[in-house]
Amino acid sequence: MLDKRPDSMERITTKALADAFIEEQVAAIRAQVGDKKVLLALSGGVDSSVVAALLIKAIGKQLVCVHVNHGLMRKGESEQVIEVFGKELDANLIYIDATDRFLDLLKDVAEPEKKRKIIGGEFIKVFDEEASKLEGISFLAQGTIYPDILESDGVKAHHNVGGLPEDMQFELVEPVRLLYKDEVRVVGEALGLPHGMVYRQPFPGPGLGVRCLGAITRDRLHALREADAILREEFDKCGLAEKVWQYFIAVPDFKSVGVRNDKRYEGWPAIIRAVNTSDAMTATIEEIPYAVLHKITDRITREVEGINRVLLDLTPKPVGTIEWE
Ligand code: XMP
Repeated sequence: MLDKRPDSMERITTKALADAFIEEQVAAIRAQVGDKKVLLALSGGVDSSVVAALLIKAIGKQLVCVHVNHGLMRKGESEQVIEVFGKELDANLIYIDATDRFLDLLKDVAEPEKKRKIIGGEFIKVFDEEASKLEGISFLAQGTIYPDILESDGVKAHHNVGGLPEDMQFELVEPVRLLYKDEVRVVGEALGLPHGMVYRQPFPGPGLGVRCLGAITRDRLHALREADAILREEFDKCGLAEKVWQYFIAVPDFKSVGVRNDKRYEGWPAIIRAVNTSDAMTATIEEIPYAVLHKITDRITREVEGINRVLLDLTPKPVGTIEWE
């Protein structure tokens, strides 16, 4: 397999170019795999989703997708994976709800890097357990994209919760390894994946785990997930979702005093973060219209149990990293 993108390779910007790429890859995958089975860890992120759709087109049920729900997904994400891949594309999909395993292990763990290690380590364990139950798997498909190869100085390895055990003895299938992110998206749309899935904002592997700050509790995680869903809904409505690179809520583990229904109401603050960047190394702050901020604040404080304030993070990177942990 090529490790370097040939200079002659045209940037995939149109449906016609995407269709040509798909046709070429379908043939290449069939030639590589034959009648053997392929395993794929399907997170629901852009890259693994596009690889899944491509492989389904090429080899149908010879692909086995495993979706591990670590309990730290955003609202509706695992459901969308089941809907799109399990139902619409009729994929061979194994869904594992490992929420309790992850949350039990994370109980009382406050240190961010320790949380990341636990989530990454447990992900590999769950995936490995599932893989060992399957028979006749010869290949492992991965959503490696060209920037991953260019940046393979360990950054992604550290970042990628989807990283798999090194002793897994499978031959790799990496059909989008020479593509840039924007090209993967054009290919995803040409394959008929939902726009929202293909143009999804980046989401860290440890998911809401690094946004539920400090030691994760189920009630605060629930509040974070609901508040984040409201933020996404409102950004969708006012057009900011198409414009802002990454936006989310973080919920710290302290409470302040408030009042609700004439009674003292202690709750956590929901912190809004919305940033623009091209490479995630530096980032600037998106200016959110005050009317939108008021609407979001009103909805979150009225609709989300446990939240009694909404704050806005105005810190560019540097000095603040994009994530809080
Ligand atoms: P920071 O917080 O370092 O984030 O400014 C830069 C980009 O990387 C994402 N990020 C992660 N992605 N695993 C991931 O897969 C991680 O542990 C992780 N931490 C941060 C972050 O969302 C942003 O897009």
